Amino acid sequence: MKKTMLLCILSILMLHCTTSDNIRHKNRGVTTKKAMVVSAREEASKIGSSILKKGGNAFDAMVATELALAVAYPYAGNIGGGGFMVYRNNMGAIGALDYREKAPLAASKDMYLDENKAVIKGKSTLGAMAVGVPGTVAGVFEVHRKFGTLSMKEILTPVIALAKRGVVVTKKQEKRIAKFQASFLKANKNPILFNKAWKENDTIKYGALAATLSRIQKNGRDEFYKGATAARLVKFIQENGGIITLEDLEKYQPKWRDPITFTYDDLKIISMSPPSSGGICLAQIMNAIEPFNLKEFGHNTTKSIQVITEAERRAYADRSFFLGDPDFVSIPQKELISKAYSQKRMKNFSFKKATLSSEVAHGNIEIIESDETTHYAIVDAFGNAVSVTTTINGGYGSKLYNSELGFFLNNEMDDFSSKPGVPNMFGLLGAKANEIAPEKRMLSSMTPTIVEKNGKLFMVVGTPGGSTIITSVLQTILNVHEFEMSMQDAVNAARFHHQWMPDVIKMEPNSFSDTVKSELKQLHYQLDESNAIVIGKVAAILVLENGELEGGADKRGDDAAVGY
Ligand code: DON
Repeated sequence: MKKTMLLCILSILMLHCTTSDNIRHKNRGVTTKKAMVVSAREEASKIGSSILKKGGNAFDAMVATELALAVAYPYAGNIGGGGFMVYRNNMGAIGALDYREKAPLAASKDMYLDENKAVIKGKSTLGAMAVGVPGTVAGVFEVHRKFGTLSMKEILTPVIALAKRGVVVTKKQEKRIAKFQASFLKANKNPILFNKAWKENDTIKYGALAATLSRIQKNGRDEFYKGATAARLVKFIQENGGIITLEDLEKYQPKWRDPITFTYDDLKIISMSPPSSGGICLAQIMNAIEPFNLKEFGHNTTKSIQVITEAERRAYADRSFFLGDPDFVSIPQKELISKAYSQKRMKNFSFKKATLSSEVAHGNIEIIESDETTHYAIVDAFGNAVSVTTTINGGYGSKLYNSELGFFLNNEMDDFSSKPGVPNMFGLLGAKANEIAPEKRMLSSMTPTIVEKNGKLFMVVGTPGGSTIITSVLQTILNVHEFEMSMQDAVNAARFHHQWMPDVIKMEPNSFSDTVKSELKQLHYQLDESNAIVIGKVAAILVLENGELEGGADKRGDDAAVGY
């Protein structure tokens, strides 16, 4: 009798657990048993996944996905830009590759200022002067040299085939291309491939890019940095008024960096180190909010938004003062990512009223003097994980398109601080640490991240979105960890963002409750819900308890999770 009762209670409990689990995880994304790629275009995810299926590892798939995005997603995928990769292999070893663009040798601190020391509008964003020395081709070859298992020929073959076959235009792409028509004409001497009213379901063939990739396949990375492609690229940039030389290309080297690591509850976060601000800022924000009980406050409630906003405000104030290329400036990294530092910074926060950004400066740390982006996530069947964010900065970069070589060039130079106190295109302010110097890397917000739980791979996550990258990655992690969402729900959930200056909480339009908004306003928070706001476009993979993988592919874009 007792036994029957016990069984009965147990099954009621189990039923309850499954139901509440289903409610929590109501919208699971694509799940696969062994391996997965999540990226901005299905074509790229498919190519990456096909490399994994062939027995390639996550690093082989990284090379394939990166280059397939250069074909299928010219808005941000590239060979004319740069990026960052964070990895965790199946033995738990971690590392990061910096293949960020660099300022050309002829760059100088005031290169975007006129004779009155005013910033010349558009010079760091449109056309050849905006271009940083590209790092992508060097980056993928370095990843392949160190960790690749398939041949470069094998990896590049499906990418080149895709470029030749062409890629079908999506509705979102149709809108983007239409939006940029005028800038394409402004930046280029002649109309380009994209100066056409491309419509949804049209197929764009990328013949010139296929030829460039075929030469790279045949001659290796030197084709891009020393060979015929390099010579043509330099000639083109200079004919358009740019300053990049063959020496700039020849000297370009990607760099292996130690990722930033820190803990949050029982999670270990592994993220990008300088010259990206991503890892340090994420650490500062998460350290600041860790003592608060977000779970109890609830998702996107007034109290949660307050705590996160105030932590973000303080971290971004520090970003703008302390951070830059670590090869040029000394960064008090250890202090910035210590829990004590961020928690001390939160001492003057009160739930009763918003702190004013004008009253928040960078924290006090003694410095010892020494002097449109896209993210993809990969997990392979061996248990290796790769998290990559790659960019040409703005949508279609500098808009300068080399028709002969078939790709857009970045406008990454705008990520430097052209002048202290003058915001860049993401509204970010910078100081001496991020001023322009020859061969320096511009400060980034890209935050390719990997999360461990109990010593095991838990999540691979990242996003585009300029200054909103860090806060979007943060919210995605919190949505899973604190608010127990599925990976797909965590990606779908409405996001908000604060970056110290301007002193506003940016919110995705029509996504937050009226009560929360009016409460925040009463507490003196300024809200900005304008439609133009992009707050991330997250690509993520979650390792489920049964070992399966769940993709989080952002509905804000054409993102897709593919695997097996
Ligand atoms: O490195 C950075 O932080 C920027 N260049 C990223 C640009 C970006 O995310 C554009 N996408 N919306």
